[in-house]
Amino acid sequence: MEIFSVWAKRKSHRTASIPASQKGLYRQKQCCPGVSRNSYLQVFILALICILFLIVLSMFNLPIPAVNVPNPSDTRAGRRASGVTLLIWWPPFGNRNPLPDCASRYGIQGCNVTSDRRAYAHADAVIIHNRELMNNWNGLPQMQRPPSQKWIWMNFESPSHSGWLDGLDGIFNLTMSYRVDSDIFLPYGYLQRHRRYGLRVDNKALLRRKRGLVAWVVSNWGEQQDRVRFYWRLRRYIHVDVYGHQARQLLNNSVVQTVSSYKFYLAFENSIHTDYITEKLWRNALVSGTVPVVLGPPRENYELFLPADAFIHVDDFKGPRALAAYLLHLARNPTQYRRYLAWRGDYSVHVTSFWSEHYCSACQSVQQSQNQNKTIKHLAFWFQS
Ligand SMILES: *[C@@H]1O[C@H](CO)[C@@H](O)[C@H](O)[C@H]1NC(C)=O
Ligand SMILES: *[C@@H]1O[C@H](CO)[C@@H](O)[C@H](O)[C@H]1NC(C)=O
Ligand SMILES: *[C@@H]1O[C@H](CO)[C@@H](O)[C@H](O)[C@H]1NC(C)=O
Ligand SMILES: *[C@@H]1O[C@H](CO)[C@@H](O)[C@H](O)[C@H]1NC(C)=O
Repeated sequence: MEIFSVWAKRKSHRTASIPASQKGLYRQKQCCPGVSRNSYLQVFILALICILFLIVLSMFNLPIPAVNVPNPSDTRAGRRASGVTLLIWWPPFGNRNPLPDCASRYGIQGCNVTSDRRAYAHADAVIIHNRELMNNWNGLPQMQRPPSQKWIWMNFESPSHSGWLDGLDGIFNLTMSYRVDSDIFLPYGYLQRHRRYGLRVDNKALLRRKRGLVAWVVSNWGEQQDRVRFYWRLRRYIHVDVYGHQARQLLNNSVVQTVSSYKFYLAFENSIHTDYITEKLWRNALVSGTVPVVLGPPRENYELFLPADAFIHVDDFKGPRALAAYLLHLARNPTQYRRYLAWRGDYSVHVTSFWSEHYCSACQSVQQSQNQNKTIKHLAFWFQS
């Protein structure tokens, strides 16, 4: 019986090396190849085993990419994870937070994360953040690249906000982004299975706090954005409280505190791209304990990250009017509304922390791909696809 990743096809033109701790994600199962026809009984028993196996597997097929899970492949062939120096070429967006100690924070040994450019000559990898590169094309390291050093292209913005990427072919060795088919993949958030299965969560209590109907927090407002156009049409049929953008003030300056008293949250992405699902879903909606109404990539894409009944997708409806009618219906029917909270009994939400988790994930990937050579030949073509 073989297990294959849903992503195998999409990745087939690249030899991505997702950190092994994440390889267990997105698994799908292929049942019952080569069943022998010797006896019906044998076939029957095999089928039964397969079905049981499927049931067990189906309990595990949600993404749980925890970087802090000890990694079995580290000890492959008895080799200890060797020391890796990771140079952060530019602080992303000028971020000056202290660099992480990956061992104490995530249990990843052997990482030296530094922003001291004097470490260039012996750095195993250099992380180059796309935003600063956009603004400074001559800013790449000018010194000769040591033969085994890897340059990592890091970007968590969508293609719509990533500038001109066409000049970047043949420069980098690894990609790092929110895209599942990146060499180093890190989503904005993910679900983690509770240690105890089927934890009882008091969704009734959660619901009692919810006096508001629909909330939306938006900072970057553009009339040409799909989400803004959708909002203007939606608000004809249902009341939406808008925060930010010269609108309401957040309660206590906190998105989570504000949104938690609403039933629904508009988790509308600023642009629509494969796998581009951001903190608008993970933190604003899910950590707040509300039901997300998503506008972004298609439903199937969301379902790689979340159970199908954990969110409402705007594409599920003919238009804003039908969506509004459904939300009003759920608001009046607490039992049906609570179905959208049921997954909380099995999972909790993890929001990835910029940039510590990113650096430590990168370090772990570099440890695992030492001695491999690779060049990203078609960066723009891939990222914009
Ligand atoms: C990490 O690298 C920096 C820069 O090369 C160096 O100064 C520092 O001593 C290293 N730290 C460890 C723990 O190896
Ligand atoms: C990768 O490149 C280095 C330096 O050129 C070389 O020593 C090494 O053998 C190459 N490794 C593979 C797996 O091709
Ligand atoms: C504001 O936030 C702080 C810290 O999270 C909390 O202790 C306090 O109770 C909050 N105030 C209100 C009015 O919610
Ligand atoms: C990284 O990419 C560069 C540019 O194509 C290439 O010359 C170098 O051999 C690659 N290094 C590794 C370790 O793959």
